[in-house]
Amino acid sequence: MQNIQSLEHYVEAYRKSIENPEAFWEEVASDLVWKEKWKRVTEWNFDPYSCAWFIGGKINITENCLDRHIAARGDHTALLFESNNPDDEVRRLTYRELYVQVCRFANVLKRNGVRKGDRVCLYMPMVPELAIATLACARIGAVHSVVFAGFSATAIADRINDSDCSFVITADALSRGAKQIPLKAVVDEALMQCPGVHRVIVYKHLGWDVVINNRRDVWWHDELQMVDSDCPAEPMDSEDILFILYTSGSTGKPKGVVHTCGGYATYVNYSFKNVFQIAPDDVYWCTADIGWVTGHSYLLYGPLMSGITSVMFEGIPTWPDAGRFWSVIDKHHVSVFYTAPTAIRSLMAMGLDYVLPYNLHSLRVLGSVGEPINEEAWHWYSIHIGKNRCPIVDTWWQTETGGIMISSLAGITPSKPAHAGFPLPGIQPVLLDQDGKIIEGNDKEGYLAIRYPWPSMIRTTFGDHERCRQTYFSTYRGYYFTGDGARRDENGLYRLIGRVDDVINVSGHRFGTAEIENAINQHKQIIESAVVGYPHDIKGQGIYAYVICDTQPDNPDRMREEIFETVNSEIGRIAKPDKIQFVSGLPKTRSGKIIRRILRKVAEGEVSNLGDTTTLLDPLIVEEIIRGRLV
Ligand code: WT7
Repeated sequence: MQNIQSLEHYVEAYRKSIENPEAFWEEVASDLVWKEKWKRVTEWNFDPYSCAWFIGGKINITENCLDRHIAARGDHTALLFESNNPDDEVRRLTYRELYVQVCRFANVLKRNGVRKGDRVCLYMPMVPELAIATLACARIGAVHSVVFAGFSATAIADRINDSDCSFVITADALSRGAKQIPLKAVVDEALMQCPGVHRVIVYKHLGWDVVINNRRDVWWHDELQMVDSDCPAEPMDSEDILFILYTSGSTGKPKGVVHTCGGYATYVNYSFKNVFQIAPDDVYWCTADIGWVTGHSYLLYGPLMSGITSVMFEGIPTWPDAGRFWSVIDKHHVSVFYTAPTAIRSLMAMGLDYVLPYNLHSLRVLGSVGEPINEEAWHWYSIHIGKNRCPIVDTWWQTETGGIMISSLAGITPSKPAHAGFPLPGIQPVLLDQDGKIIEGNDKEGYLAIRYPWPSMIRTTFGDHERCRQTYFSTYRGYYFTGDGARRDENGLYRLIGRVDDVINVSGHRFGTAEIENAINQHKQIIESAVVGYPHDIKGQGIYAYVICDTQPDNPDRMREEIFETVNSEIGRIAKPDKIQFVSGLPKTRSGKIIRRILRKVAEGEVSNLGDTTTLLDPLIVEEIIRGRLV
C-alpha cells in the first residue's frame, strides 16, 4: 500500500476509512505478510466491551520485521546502537544479523522452557539485546512484558505477579548518564516476592559481579553456546497476545494493557509509515526507552516492519553535555527524530551553545510525543533543530491505543504549534460533553473519546476484563474514553489539553495520583497524603504532595528524604515528588472525599479563586494549606 502523499490523498483515505472501515482496514492489513489470511475483518462491541481484528488470520510480527527483509535488504542496518559513553564503539546489526540473533535467542528461550503463551518479564538496559529478547519472545509466541529499568524492586514484583511471569530476562547493570544501576540486584530483591519465577537469564553488559543463584539463573552468553539459529516463526492467531505493558491509571494499581498480534502489527506499520512519511533510506531515531509503548511501537516494531535503520540510544540527553542528541544526529545522519517535549524543554533551557556546533543537515522530519508540547518549545524545536525546513509531527496517542491516533502526517497535513492535528485515517475521535452527548462543529472543547474501534486498541487489562470495561468504556457508554480533554480548532485540528482524570504526566511518564499516595503512605509515620499535578516548566507537570504525619515532623527536610526513599522503593526514582507540604488536615467534604480541585489550585498558586469552601468539613484547613504553600 502506498503512503499517503498529499492532502487530497489524506482526505480521500479518511473518507473511505469512515464509509467502509472494513474494506479500508483489509487493504491496510494486506501490506503485511500473513501466514494465513483472516476470515472476518472485525467483530466488536463497546457495551460490553469486546473487540477482535482479522479474525482467523495467522501472523508473526517478527516475520514482518525480519524474514521478509532478508532477500532485498539483508545487509541494510536494522539497529544502530549508540552507547551511553560517546567514546564506545557503535554497534550495527544488519537485518540478517538481527534475524540470526533473534532466532538464536528464541532457541535459548525454548531451551529454558519458555512456551507459547508464557509471560516473560524483561528488565533490561537500552541495548540491542533488549530488542533481541523482545523479538525472540514474539518469535516463539511468548508474551513479553517489558518493565522500564527505572522501576523499583516492588514495582517489578507487582508486575511479575500480576501477569504471572515465570521467566525474567535482565542484565548485570546499566549505565545512564553518569549513573549506574544494578539491575540484577534489583531483580534478586523483587524475586523474593515472586515464587512463580523459575528462570532468570542474565546478559553481561557492564561486567559487574552479580550473585548467581545456580538453581534459577543462567548467563545469556553461556546459553547462546548451546543453540543454533534455526527458529521458524510461530504462527500466531491474530488475536493471540503479543505483549502486556503496564501503565498507570486513576486507581492505585498499574494495569497490564494487552495488545494482540495481528491488529497491533497492522496499525503500527500503517501509522509509522504515514506519520513520518518513511523512505527506504531513512535513519530514524526515537529516543524513547523500549520500556514504554513509544519504544515498542516506534523504536522496535514500526521501523523494523518498514525495513529501515532504527537508532537505539542507551544514554540521556544531557550527558556528557546537553549537546548529546545533536551530536548523535550528526554522527549517524539521522533523518527522522522523535522525542518528548520534556527533553526539548530541558535542552532549550541549556541554551543554544549546545546546538550551534552541529549542522543537523540530515534531518528531514521531527516528532514529539507523550505530553502536550507548548508553543515556545515547538518553535524552538522547529527553528533551532529543524532549521525551519523540517515538519513537526505532534503525535497524540496512549499505551492503550497501541499507535499514533491524532497527528499531522509529515509535510502532508497541517501542522500547527501545540496542536496534534487531524486524526489518522480509520480513527474516529469525538468530543463529548458532561452528559456524554457529542459536541458537533469546530472551535469546541470537550472530553476526547473514540467511537469506532481500530486494530491496535487495547483488548483487555490482563487478568481483569472488568477493570478494562470500567476504566475505558463505562464513563461514556458506547465510546472508548481517553481520559484527555481536547479542543477542536476552527479548522478541525485537535489540540490536547491534558488529563481530566487523576492521572498526571511527569516528563512524559504517566502516574496515578493514587499510586503515588499509596507509595507515600507506606511510610509508617504518615497518616494520609494527597497528590496533585501542577504546571512545571521542564517536566510538563510536577508532583505536589500534601502529607499528614502522626506528629508534625521536627526535621521536615529529613522527613522529605525519608518519603523520597519510600517512593523510590515502592515505584522508582521517576515518581519522586517535587514538593512535599506537611499539613494537619486535607480539604474534605462532609462525606470524607478529598476536594482535589482546591489542592490543585493551591499547588498552581491560584489561591484567590478557590470556589465555594463552605461545605467543607473543616473550612479552616484551607487557610492553613495556603499559608504553608511551597513555591
Ligand atoms: C497520555 C498517554 C503516547 C505514548 C507515550 C505516552 C498524553 C501523549 C500527547 C500529545 C498531548 C499527549 C495524553 C495521553 N499525551 N501524547 N502529543 N499531546 N498529550 O503514553 O504513558 O500511555 O500516556 O499522554 O494525556 O492520554 P502514555
